[in-house]
Order: sequence, then C-alpha cells, then structure tokens
Amino acid sequence: MATLRTDPEQSRRAPNLRSVVVGTGSSLPERVVTNAALAEQMDTSDEWIVQRTGIRQRHIAAADETTSVLGMRAAQSALDDAGLTADDIDLVICATSTPDHTFPATATQIQAALGIHQGAAFDLQAVCAGFVFAVTTADKFLTTGAARRALIVGAETFSRLVDWEDRTTCVLFGDGAGAIVLEAQAAEEGRGVLSTSLRSDGRHREKLYVDGGPGSTGTTGHLRMEGRDVFRFAVGQVTDVIVDAFAQAGMTAEDLDWFVPHQANRRIIEASADKIGIARDKIVLTVDRHGNTSAASIPLALDVARRDGRIKPGDLVMIEAIGGGFSWGAALIRW
Ligand code: UT7
Repeated sequence: MATLRTDPEQSRRAPNLRSVVVGTGSSLPERVVTNAALAEQMDTSDEWIVQRTGIRQRHIAAADETTSVLGMRAAQSALDDAGLTADDIDLVICATSTPDHTFPATATQIQAALGIHQGAAFDLQAVCAGFVFAVTTADKFLTTGAARRALIVGAETFSRLVDWEDRTTCVLFGDGAGAIVLEAQAAEEGRGVLSTSLRSDGRHREKLYVDGGPGSTGTTGHLRMEGRDVFRFAVGQVTDVIVDAFAQAGMTAEDLDWFVPHQANRRIIEASADKIGIARDKIVLTVDRHGNTSAASIPLALDVARRDGRIKPGDLVMIEAIGGGFSWGAALIRW
C-alpha cells in the first residue's frame, strides 16, 4: 500500500469495486458569531440575513485555527469513526480555496499531522463544489484499484477571504471542516458511490471570484460576488447534474432518503429540491448554524446527519454543490 498502483490486474478488477463511506468527521471553530453580533459591526440585521439566506450564526476561526488545523481535526474524527488508523489510508484529498499557504498543499500538511506516510495527498480547488469534485476524483482512484482507502476533507477559513467591509458577502460565510473516509469494497454489496456528474463553465468567472492571487496581484485578494446572478444560475442550472446522477443510477427523487446540498442559502436549496421533486423533509439543512463554509459545507452536514441518526447504512444520499467558476456537481451514494 506504499505507492499508488497501476497494476493491470487491479484495473481488470475495477468494474467490481465501489467507494463506500466508512466514516465521517467534522470540526468547527469554537467562536460563534450570531447575526445580531454582525449587526453591531455593520449595517445589517438578523431579520435581513435570516429572511434572505436562512443563516442565523456562523463559526469564525481563531488565529491558530488554520484550514489545515480544522481539516486535520475533521480527518482524525473521520478516521476514529471508521475505526481506522493512519496506516490504513493511501490517498488524502483536501478540497479547499483557503489553503494555509499557496503551497505546499494543505492535504500534505493534514497527511503529516495525522502520521500518514504512504500514498499521495493533494488539494483540489473547485470552490464550493470542491467536496463533490473530490469525492468524484477519489472514486476514480478507488474503483480502478489505484488506492484502497481515501480520506476526503473539505476545509475552509472563508472568514479570511471575505471583505469585512462588504455587507453583501461577509455575512454569508463561515469557517469549518468536514471529512469522510471512502473504502474500496466489492460492488456486490450494493453500497457506495453509485454515480457522479460534474460540470464547469469558466465563462461565469466575473459572477464569483477572488480579486487577487499569487500569479496576478501577489496578494490573497477578497471574495467578490454578484449574489443575484449566482442565485439565478444555482436554481436554474445546477439541477442538471442531479438529474444526470439519478439517470445514470436508474433512480429518481422518489428513491432518495437524504438530500445533502451545499449550504449557501436556504432559498436556493429549497427551490432546487422543489424543482427536482425532492420532498422538503428529506433535506439536511445546516446553513442556519454554519453559514456558507464552501467546500466544507457538505461533509459538515453529512457528519451532523449521520451522528444524529438521520443517515443510516443503506440510505440513498444525494450530495450536490455549485461554486465559483462556475463549477458544479452531484454524487449519488448508497450509504
Ligand atoms: O457558495 C457559492 C454560491 N453563492 C451563493 O449561493 C449565494 C447566492 N446568492 C444569494 O444567496 C443571494 O443573492 C444573497 C443572499 C447574496 C442576496 O439576496 P438577494 O435576495 O439576491 O438580495 P439582493 O442582492 O437583491 O439585495 C437586496 C437588498 C439590496 O438593497 P436595495 O438595492 O434593494 O436597496 C442590498 O443592498 O438588500 C441589501 N443588502 C443588505 N441589507 C442588509 C445586501 N446585503 C445586505 C445585508 N444586510 N447584509
């Protein structure tokens, strides 16, 4: 298990493997900031934020709670949940747009902090859709036999990327991390990732972007968003990947047990679910407590719903997200 394999024997076994979730974990900064607390600092109100987004509070990282620290805690908790140790993991993917440093990859810092010394570790950048892209990527490694167990982390500190002078964006985001462990298991068991669907369309860059970077300004920059346009695109377009993921698996919204979407805005989530015909009581909502944590939002929500007993083995779960780029995607998972 020390290196990634390209053994043709492994590839021949590929059609019989599925990527099964065997553990989840999460980590949130201790500090909670309510809407009322924000209203003391800027021209906003609890009423506006709740009405427009469903957000009531968010967690904000302390100086020593970097993306890799939050990611490492979430990853350790997912490993513990799975009953596994560092020696069992041969792939680490961290979905993040707020790495501790431009390089090395945050995934390698998480890998080192956990004592994982084999396999590969890399970051994946698809902004809010990062976790869905990371699950899809890991699934390719696991189902081709190139890796056996993947630790997939979504970790973000967007409080460091937003412009705290811009009330139209800064009230929306929070910090946190979530993680899952995916294991290659025999497909005959029926569990695991059943289908995935990814899309990107770079023509929408101006709608949601960061106005800096190492290759342009040499600074980190700040998040900029045309909220109304993103909202329209999210509701109007993103459902195509959900429809595709259902179609690939030969299933429909009726078969679904839990819809675990990216947590950006309650109105976007409910409008998308309505459009697809997913019953409101099948939606896992955490945006009220966490705000928009970008790539961390889905694994955080998965961990909440699994630990409170909603998501159980055998349940059919759809994850879905859209973010900057635009990039968007969905994955259907038999838990
Ligand atoms: O995770 C990546 C994906 N991102 C998203 O999914 C975000 C998508 N967009 C949204 O969630 C919504 O568009 C927002 C929550 C960002 C905004 O909601 P909206 O209903 O589209 O509001 P709006 O942008 O049309 O603004 C309405 C009004 C404006 O005032 P006027 O021009 O009508 O006088 C804003 O200036 O609300 C004002 N406003 C605020 N008022 C109080 C904007 N931000 C605030 C604020 N507090 N924080």
